[in-house]
Order: sequence, then structure tokens, then C-alpha cells
Amino acid sequence: TYKAVIFDLDGVITDTAHYHYLAWKKLAEQVGVPFDEVFNERLKGVDRMGSLNLILAQGSATYTEEEKVALATQKNAHYQELISTMSPADLLPGAVEALDSVRQAGLKIGLASVSRNALTVLTSLGITDKFDYIVDASKIARGKPDPEIFLTAAERLGVKPEECIGVEDAVAGVQSIKAAGMYAVGVGDPAVLSQADQVIASLTAFSIADFLN
Ligand code: G6P
Ligand code: MG
Repeated sequence: TYKAVIFDLDGVITDTAHYHYLAWKKLAEQVGVPFDEVFNERLKGVDRMGSLNLILAQGSATYTEEEKVALATQKNAHYQELISTMSPADLLPGAVEALDSVRQAGLKIGLASVSRNALTVLTSLGITDKFDYIVDASKIARGKPDPEIFLTAAERLGVKPEECIGVEDAVAGVQSIKAAGMYAVGVGDPAVLSQADQVIASLTAFSIADFLN
């Protein structure tokens, strides 16, 4: 029996995945490397420096660690500008209903986001108190696709990994859930998220009843 559902944030609960995309696109143009939505799929769920390294690897120039930190800081400033006006209106359809249905069914709710902006976004959305435990970048050493973030959430929720359902929009995120030994619900395109156990188009199609017995 399932005892917890662990949600990703960006691209699952709110459309910040698009803001990350816009901010990385601007940076890619600035350093002169090609960038599109297809390449962006590889960045979803990947932490800030990891994403930057993937983008810079598309070009031939080399950068010092200092230059990389400056570029990452620049991207983050642009991202923070994009999310500065977020409010509860930016919750994706079905998000609140999904969280509330899980709570009502008596399961625990976790959040697993590698974003250092996760707490800011949750606060803007007004949903921080809907989670029993929040794991963000400050609590883990290895990002997705490593299972550490989902395993940490399960441990802190007091449940076993096999008792957890993970919900993700990123390829790296689905890999992280599966590596943790959990059931993976993908949110997005089934062709992209082929490693998930189940793929839904949005949280409006999330049904906790399907997991209860
Ligand atoms: C999430 C997003 C990624 C983003 C990462 C780090 O996983 O899916 O696109 O790069 O968080 O976000 P941050 O806000 O710390 O730069
Ligand atoms: Mg995501």
C-alpha cells in the first residue's frame, strides 16, 4: 500500500519550467550556443550548475569556475525577475485538488525540488503548509537523476521508498524516482517520459483513488 506522494515543483505544480527555459535561452544566446525546447528537456530537473555545464558543452569555448558562477548568477537573476510576480493564480490546473485529495486519503505529502528558489515559489503560490516535508537543494548533495532527493523525502516522511509515488515532469526526475524504487507518475509527453510507470497530461488527471485498495 502507498503511504506517501512526493511531488516535484517546477513544471508539475506551477509552470516555472517555462521561466527556467526562458532564462536559460537568454543565457545561451548570450554565449552563442544553440538552444531549443528539445535540448531544454535535458535541463529539466537538473540543478543550476549542472544545467549551465550542459549548455556550455554545446559550444567550444572554455570558462573558468569564476566565469561559470557569474553566468549562473546572471541566469538566476533573470529567473527571479520572471517569478517575482507569481501568485496563487500561477498554480497549474489540478495542483491544489491533487494535493488536497492525497491529504484527504490519509497519505503523506512530500516535495522534492533541486531548485534553490523552491521555498520562494511555494510561498508565492501560498501552498507551503500543504507539505509534510520539503526537500530542496540545501538538503542534498546529489541532484536528479540520483535517487538521493526522493529517498531523503521518504526517509523524513517515515515511509519506505516502495510505499511512495513520485510525480515528475522531467526525464531526470523520473529516473530519480525509479532509481529510488518508487512508482513514477510522469506529467507531460509519454514519448519523452517513457521511463515513467504512468504518464498524465496534467495534474487534473491525477487520481489518488487509483492507488488505494
Ligand atoms: C528544477 C528545475 C530546473 C532548475 C533547477 C535548479 O529542478 O526543473 O530547471 O535548473 O530546479 O533551479 P534553481 O532555482 O536552483 O536555479
Ligand atoms: Mg520539474
